[in-house]
Amino acid sequence: MDLLKAIKERKSTRAFKPDKVSRQQIEEILKLVIDAPSAINLQPWEFIVVMGEEKERLSRRLIKLYREKQISCSPGNVKPLAENFSKRGAESFELMNPYLEKMGQDFNRFVNEGSCNFYGAPVAVIMCLDNAFSKARLVDIGIGLGYFVLIAHHFGFSTCPIGLINAYEDDMKEILNIPENKDVVIGIALGYADPESPANQFKSPRDSLDNFVKWVD
Ligand SMILES: Cc1cc2nc3c(=O)[nH]c(=O)nc-3n(C[C@H](O)[C@H](O)[C@H](O)COP(=O)(O)O)c2cc1C
Repeated sequence: MDLLKAIKERKSTRAFKPDKVSRQQIEEILKLVIDAPSAINLQPWEFIVVMGEEKERLSRRLIKLYREKQISCSPGNVKPLAENFSKRGAESFELMNPYLEKMGQDFNRFVNEGSCNFYGAPVAVIMCLDNAFSKARLVDIGIGLGYFVLIAHHFGFSTCPIGLINAYEDDMKEILNIPENKDVVIGIALGYADPESPANQFKSPRDSLDNFVKWVD
């Protein structure tokens, strides 16, 4: 697939079919993901691929934890956000909500429990970073995530990044036996989109380029 077509078409999927993805198919994606650039070619990413009954067990545990702790998807800011950022966040909720109402779903429950369930995807990929690295290396993980979602799209798969798992990092480590010195950075739901689900029938907009760029020349 043409790169620009993949960039324009890709979107986060929030309803997956249960159809399995093979280990070979996931390896094919990951072999290309690790072609991503990284500082000093450190290639600091580590992937935990959770599938089959283990993925179902992970989802069940995370949903239970969400119901107990009620820690929700949030931007995770450390100071109040400037108005333009808050506005974009609110707009994305408003845009998604009518589609969830069609499904008779409450927004918070759908997004939080859905994230804990990787939206029903058969595969959860967890990207980790050794905590000996500085936080600057999160940039490399982010590039890897960007490569992952586009390469998966190229092969006909759908994805949704799942940041909510950070809130449950200690539990994730216990459930998946992740060593203490590894930080859980981001999860990725991977599978085939359910085209019938209203949750997959919208595409999130982008703000005007003028609102992001300052030209210095
Ligand atoms: C780092 C990161 C974390 C995210 N975490 C979640 C999440 O926990 N749950 C979720 O439903 N979507 C999550 N998303 C998806 C974003 O909501 C989505 O990328 C954004 O709304 C833009 O939509 P698009 O991906 O369809 O273009 C995350 C995306 C990124 C990049």
